[in-house]
Amino acid sequence: MPYIESIERLVSSQPVHVMVPGHGGAPAHGGAHLAAVFGDRLVQYDVPLMLEGVDLGADSPREASLQLAAEAWAARRVWWLTNGASQGNRTAALAVRGLGERVLMQRSSHSSFVDGVLLAGLIPAFVAPSVDERHGISHGLTPGRLDEALREEAEHGRKASSVYVVSPSYFGSTADVAGLAEVAHRHGAALIVDGAWGPHFGFHPDLPEAPTRLGADLVVSSTHKLAGSLTQASMLHLGEGPFADRLEPLVQRAYTMTASTSASSILMGSLDLARRALVQGTEHISAALQTAERLRQLVRADTRYSVISDDFGEFADIVRTDPLRIPLDVTNLGQSGHWVRDRLIAEHGVYFEMSTASAIVAVIGALATPDAGRIMAALTAVADEADALRAAGEADHQAEFPAMPEPGMLRMLPRAAYFAESIVVTAHQAIGRISADSLAAYPPGIPNLVPGEEITEQTVTFLQAVAASPTGFVRGAADPLVATFRVVRDPVTASLQP
Ligand SMILES: Cc1ncc(COP(=O)(O)O)c(C=O)c1O
Repeated sequence: MPYIESIERLVSSQPVHVMVPGHGGAPAHGGAHLAAVFGDRLVQYDVPLMLEGVDLGADSPREASLQLAAEAWAARRVWWLTNGASQGNRTAALAVRGLGERVLMQRSSHSSFVDGVLLAGLIPAFVAPSVDERHGISHGLTPGRLDEALREEAEHGRKASSVYVVSPSYFGSTADVAGLAEVAHRHGAALIVDGAWGPHFGFHPDLPEAPTRLGADLVVSSTHKLAGSLTQASMLHLGEGPFADRLEPLVQRAYTMTASTSASSILMGSLDLARRALVQGTEHISAALQTAERLRQLVRADTRYSVISDDFGEFADIVRTDPLRIPLDVTNLGQSGHWVRDRLIAEHGVYFEMSTASAIVAVIGALATPDAGRIMAALTAVADEADALRAAGEADHQAEFPAMPEPGMLRMLPRAAYFAESIVVTAHQAIGRISADSLAAYPPGIPNLVPGEEITEQTVTFLQAVAASPTGFVRGAADPLVATFRVVRDPVTASLQP
């Protein structure tokens, strides 16, 4: 771990800090308040950028660690990100604008990529992923569907220079990235894979392969999600493909624009540590996989729950499944996933990653081994509680949740709509008008409305139901309950789509 070791050397030389950060780099010299909670090392290892022997120069220890990360993820080059995969998506969008102005993107993108599209002034076209109607969850694209969409765009004179897909999905479904890369390249487009949920892929024979090894040109990776770095610490990987020469300087310039000039050594150091732990961690990953399998087996023995990924075979776009993701169908309980997740937290201290109307999703880190027995005991107790409520005639109304809305028609370019003069109107008045904002139901943060799209009644109903649900939140909404919307003031004179 050249980067971590270089900081270790610096710390052991007992430097006198008359520089940032202002906590002085030592518990005894200004950092006692931090050390009291986080320990001495956090204060000592929190060093600024541009230090000789740490990160200055082309042959610095930081560069050596980045090179090791590139080798570990089979990338030509890796950028460490201290503002999450969200920064990776914005950086990727800015970078691919250098290849051309049109991007074909999977509709179920993360909202940070939509933000990148706005920033970069990209012209997006959307392609719908396959959807599990039963659970209202989006999966991915088949290469055939991508081919069709790229062809259609080209036939209308809208040739895309880049393609953005999400794999794995929030539920662990993994697309045929090799097939998607082949199709994108055949159409002259670079492939961005938002692999935020698959930073651990490629580090164990029982896990899906890393997208860089399958031909992806850029891979956005949320290392902190499952691969053991600290929250926010993520990476952007440049694949060794046909676009690598053009993309490398474009990504570097975009990265300079999105990165902090005070990137945290603690977060970056955690990426160095996570990389080594993964590379040397086959046994730990095996233990995590066994834990996940044990939990699945326990759950399968209780017919009140079912493992949603057991039915992934029905979807043509799903070629692999992340075994560390355990999505559970809770509809047999007569209660919503939100209610189940809440009860697990309130009564048992068991925190699932997310809930929907019909499901809850557990995520097991690639190096983690949570107590499967305790989780199952909590699930059993919550199912018993649901049975008792049902016997008393108390169903949870949230279980009946509106369907995920179809996107409204794109009537203005997203960037033009975002920057146009806008006003806030009631939800009722907003129907039929053009949204100036990007609104995404959380979790999972997939935009249901992007700037420039017409607001439909279906979208309003869905977003308000999410906002009213116990764990729901709508990112980008004009108010917490989504009672109002920001719309383009004057769509008649506003610039229309080209
Ligand atoms: C598909 C996808 N991409 C990107 C992100 C953003 O990741 P981060 O939270 O690391 O910024 C998320 C977050 O959930 C995501 O689900």
